Amino acid sequence: MAGLKRVEPMARFRALVADGNEDAPAVRIDELTLSDLPAGDVTISVSYSSVNYKDGLAVSPKSRVVRRYPMVLGIDLAGVVIHSTDRRLHAGDEVLVTGYDLGVSHFGGFSQVARVPAEWVVPLPKGLTLRDAMAFGTAGFTAALSIDRMEQNGLGTDAGPVLVTGATGGVGSLAVAILSQLGYEVTASSRKEGEAEYLRHLGAAVTVTPDSFMNGENRPLRGEIWAGVVDPVGGESLASILPAVKYGGSVALSGLAGGWRFATTVHPFILRGVNLLGIDSVQCPMDTRRRIWDRLATDMKPIGKFDLVTVSATLDDVPEMLSKILKSEVRGRVVVSL
Ligand SMILES: NC(=O)c1ccc[n+]([C@@H]2O[C@H](COP(=O)([O-])OP(=O)(O)OC[C@H]3O[C@@H](n4cnc5c(N)ncnc54)[C@H](OP(=O)(O)O)[C@@H]3O)[C@@H](O)[C@H]2O)c1
Repeated sequence: MAGLKRVEPMARFRALVADGNEDAPAVRIDELTLSDLPAGDVTISVSYSSVNYKDGLAVSPKSRVVRRYPMVLGIDLAGVVIHSTDRRLHAGDEVLVTGYDLGVSHFGGFSQVARVPAEWVVPLPKGLTLRDAMAFGTAGFTAALSIDRMEQNGLGTDAGPVLVTGATGGVGSLAVAILSQLGYEVTASSRKEGEAEYLRHLGAAVTVTPDSFMNGENRPLRGEIWAGVVDPVGGESLASILPAVKYGGSVALSGLAGGWRFATTVHPFILRGVNLLGIDSVQCPMDTRRRIWDRLATDMKPIGKFDLVTVSATLDDVPEMLSKILKSEVRGRVVVSL
């Protein structure tokens, strides 16, 4: 019953604030009041947030991720509605928000209380807890969106192996777990050979290092291996992957952890009908967003894998986690309790 979850607004609450400017951003934990929050229809008592690569970029000089200062960081949040002026949402409702301007130009989720436009709010789907929602967060949502887009382009479990790059990261770990849950044969690529056991426990049938396909030859076409690819790494590894995608296969490209530039030829596209699918979680339309979250709560929910894929943190741990995620020192997902 919604009334049972009613939360009283805190007079003062803690938040992680980035201040300074884009050349020298500085973060601090600050105490805010409700009047410090931006305008919005829905005020939320935040239970959990999560640490994403973009949050790390947000505190990197000259990244231009944060568009105005001071800014409360955090591109994800899950919590309970305290107050709503939108008739679709009520005090006590469990909700989540990812993407849009959150933590970039609108105060974000590393805060005990947040206020956002109603148009950004996704009701927590039945079957997920608030913590589960942040175990996924933007990274898991992006993994799911990548898989869903490839399925819309013909990927099925009988099509052949699916490659996941950056497999120990947030998008990568959840892509391995979700694909395995759906019954796909997963090849997990990580630079960290020592994490092969982790990746097998997540559901990878095969683990490889990027050297196995980045062999320097970069021929226009190679033997057909992968039916699908979830790629949060991009850069030159993508150039090496495209020639080995099966006829009619898909690459869902979401990230730039390995670089933003790559050189390729037209051959995989015009001779094998390969689909290069751009994945954007930030402005993803609400109908797609809700459909993907419903899948994350049902057929894409990686049963029994959340403990393996997450570590727990507090707001005080976040600054250290932001620097670690940029150095690839975070495995899987960091869930932040507020
Ligand atoms: N398009 C979107 O809407 C969207 C949404 C979410 C994330 N992203 C992007 O996706 C990427 C991954 O995000 P994430 O949250 O999963 O980050 P993450 O947790 O840090 O994972 C990234 C992984 O990529 C690999 N990697 C890192 N640096 C690399 C390098 N220089 N060369 C090759 N591999 C490298 C590492 O995996 P191994 O060590 O296992 O190889 C790392 O764990 C980021 O670029 C992020 O901005 C985009």
